[in-house]
Amino acid sequence: MILVVGGAGYIGSVLVRELLERGYAVKVFDRLYYGDQGIREVSERIKLELGDIRTMDISVLDGVDAVINLSGLSNDPTAEYNTKANFEMNVQATEFLARLCKKKGIKRFLFASSCSIYDVGIGNDEKDIVMDEESPVNPKAAYSSSKYQAEKILLSLKDENFSPVILRKGTIYGFSPRMRYDLVVNTFLKDVLSKGYLTIHYGGEMWRPLVDVRDAARAYITCLEAEESKVHGQVFNVVYSNFRNSELALRVLEALREVEVKAELKADYRYHGVRSYRVSGKKIERVLDFKPAVSVEEAVKDMVDNITRYRYIDFDNPRYYNIAWMKLLEEADKIIKVTGSVFEIANQPSFHPAVVNLLRKTQGADF
Ligand SMILES: NC(=O)c1ccc[n+]([C@@H]2O[C@H](COP(=O)([O-])OP(=O)(O)OC[C@H]3O[C@@H](n4cnc5c(N)ncnc54)[C@H](O)[C@@H]3O)[C@@H](O)[C@H]2O)c1
Repeated sequence: MILVVGGAGYIGSVLVRELLERGYAVKVFDRLYYGDQGIREVSERIKLELGDIRTMDISVLDGVDAVINLSGLSNDPTAEYNTKANFEMNVQATEFLARLCKKKGIKRFLFASSCSIYDVGIGNDEKDIVMDEESPVNPKAAYSSSKYQAEKILLSLKDENFSPVILRKGTIYGFSPRMRYDLVVNTFLKDVLSKGYLTIHYGGEMWRPLVDVRDAARAYITCLEAEESKVHGQVFNVVYSNFRNSELALRVLEALREVEVKAELKADYRYHGVRSYRVSGKKIERVLDFKPAVSVEEAVKDMVDNITRYRYIDFDNPRYYNIAWMKLLEEADKIIKVTGSVFEIANQPSFHPAVVNLLRKTQGADF
């Protein structure tokens, strides 16, 4: 059985389906921050355990043959918003999980890292070269440095009984039953469908490595099934191609034109200094014969199809934007701690002064 930690997320929901299709038994361990929409349809075919990776009980690993860790805070804004939680989830909990696996004799451990590790920061244009797994890195931001720290810890734990494999993925695009519209291609698509135009900032100069979500899922399965000697303690970039944002925008528009959605392109040329990095995906092709196959255009057309068919068109819903959703959950959590419930009458009287104060502060309510 394969354990996917964070399996109800954007990538996890696609990966879990791919694993099931290939006949694997799958267990998902997830705190369900974004609900269970991503795995609801397959809930009868998987084992689901709810909980936080930071306090996961070793019994979750009963019957598990390999672990894929996709959990934790999954972008820059959420990591910056709560750097403590980011460190605990992305670094400490990854080490905790790896140590539980070692104790339990689970050898293969795949870790969701990120190409943002290669980000050299703003204003370092002379360092804008295509980076590979051997390139020196020195990530500074909370998110990327947490991924890099976790990588280093995992690699230091490798031995004859523990085989960590690191997948540094580019920014993902494409449809998932747990949809995200806070990733560049998906954002472009959402902007066109909701506003009729998309905007490229800073002239769209920045380079980014990208890859489709189904390709990312297949990369995990390739690493899961690969001969141990090829993946033991290895780092693999997972990248379809590198694109400037301006080119990406044009590709999105072209794909949409083919499905008869017309849109305008707006460009903002103010230069603020941009982060730019390009990453090579050749190693995974060379070593494991794996090459991402889904183009941006194909993914865009597939997204249009799926988001209209399954009604992922409530584009303002904060659930699709990790930072907006986390802030909302936190705000709701503060209120519910006082009220005890949303509609039911809790122990406190309805007009408890603390509630009134909180509402005044958070919503500017006038009463
Ligand atoms: N989406 C991308 O473009 C991208 C690119 C590179 C790397 N990654 C990495 O891949 C992984 C998956 O990304 P995603 O886009 O699917 O993210 P996501 O935010 O959609 O999913 C993360 C999942 O993990 C769960 N989770 C978070 N913290 C948890 C905790 N403490 N305990 C238990 N469950 C927890 C969430 O409930 C959610 O279901 C992340 O580690 C992310 O950093 C993502």
